[in-house]
Amino acid sequence: MSKKKKICVVAASAVIVAPMLFTTPASASSVSNGILSKIERQLSVNKILKDIERLSMEDGQNKDNARVTGFEGEHEAAKYIQSQFKKLGLNSELKTVDGIDGFIDEGSSLTINNQSVTVKTLTYSQPTNQKLEGELVYAKTGTENECKEANLRGKIALIQRGTISFADKAKNAYNNGAIGVIIYNNASGMLNGTLGELNDSVVPTVGMSLEDGKVLVDKVNAGESVNVSMEVNTIVKPNSFSYNVVGELPAHKNVKNPQTLVVGAHFDSVSCPGANDNASGTATILELARLISQPEVKNKLQYNIKFVAFGAEEIGLVGSKEYVEQLVQSGESQNIAGMINLDMVGVGNQVVTYNIDDNSSHKITDIAHENINELGYKFGGHFNSGSSDHAPFEAAGIPSVFIQFDKDPYYHTDEDTLDKIDPQNIKETATLVLNMLMDMQEKSPNKPNKPNKKQFKNIEFENEEMPSL
Ligand code: BES
Ligand code: ZN
Repeated sequence: MSKKKKICVVAASAVIVAPMLFTTPASASSVSNGILSKIERQLSVNKILKDIERLSMEDGQNKDNARVTGFEGEHEAAKYIQSQFKKLGLNSELKTVDGIDGFIDEGSSLTINNQSVTVKTLTYSQPTNQKLEGELVYAKTGTENECKEANLRGKIALIQRGTISFADKAKNAYNNGAIGVIIYNNASGMLNGTLGELNDSVVPTVGMSLEDGKVLVDKVNAGESVNVSMEVNTIVKPNSFSYNVVGELPAHKNVKNPQTLVVGAHFDSVSCPGANDNASGTATILELARLISQPEVKNKLQYNIKFVAFGAEEIGLVGSKEYVEQLVQSGESQNIAGMINLDMVGVGNQVVTYNIDDNSSHKITDIAHENINELGYKFGGHFNSGSSDHAPFEAAGIPSVFIQFDKDPYYHTDEDTLDKIDPQNIKETATLVLNMLMDMQEKSPNKPNKPNKKQFKNIEFENEEMPSL
């Protein structure tokens, strides 16, 4: 019998779905075991949605800066996640990640000769405190020489993207007396970028589209006087910290030298509610932890299962990099059989998978693909990306897969809210990971006991109404 038949997935619907009991058991006894005891082992999409709400909202309102790396909201989320692990009886640990520069972009604005032009704050830009007023000077690509030749003292520098880093452009302009910097794109569209770190030796810096930048270059080159008024609002928190939160379920004590499987998701956000990115993945691993910590499953584990909620992902995978570094230093990385990363699993209409490249082991990815196929999910394809927490694991030689739903039009915007989350995606993701873990259980190399496939496979879904979101 295929898994597809055993595990039913309810279609998300705004209307109330008639109560259904998803019992297509492999044996009659699993029915007579009684529904009640099974309910405790059931996947609850509602619980996941509640946790997404808990992580992305406050007092029923969407939180603007839900869990921004290094700020209060992120720390509070970490403690909530740990409290959930503790409640489930997992061995839990809050691991501090030091050296985090907290940064919130509160928005930038710019006018050119009193006409407003759209700009975007570069991450780690200095704020303007009050409005900056100055004449615009074109400094080409902003190299040391170009900035020197441009006579930038007291002026605002217009610099093109390319050749050197954004940070070096901003530094060169600062060293030559500029009071602000506009970097315009070298390809069509808006420039989104980062200066890499907080630095006093840069001036307020914003990005601009190629199209707008070209218009300004033409004006300056034509000898027109171009007056700029610029405002950059940021909140910074230098020398802050973040957390990785670990919840562990150890393998059965009879398993000699058990290997570890990591199921991870980052819980920090950029300056937006971050319901999909990535309260969705975080809430899903909490629910997986709840399901797997049920005695029927927990007592048969062939692997140690570590649920890890990573902090500081949004500023460059800092939490997961530090976590993996510690694994490598302690030698534990040798003992990690695989890593499953959930990031943005709530929006979109097809599941997609990623690895950093084609050279690393695709062992776990293959297991994901087999299960996606068997479960009959709509699959959007496999791609290369290093933009999430699987990347440091893969780079350390640990077979990993990044699972996501595609495509999220609200990514990194204030629109990334609970109402955009599709319960069906959540259900599919949790089901997929459960099936993957079960497959790995079965294929485990260290099996003193014959694993009971049914215990894991026949987890039945809660007889709950699908929420109308
Ligand atoms: N969840 C995203 C990564 C993502 C988004 C992958 C859309 C695939 C499609 C993650 O939180 C993120 O924003 N990552 C950064 C890069 C990271 C190294 C700071 C990004 O993609 O810009
Ligand atoms: Zn993100």
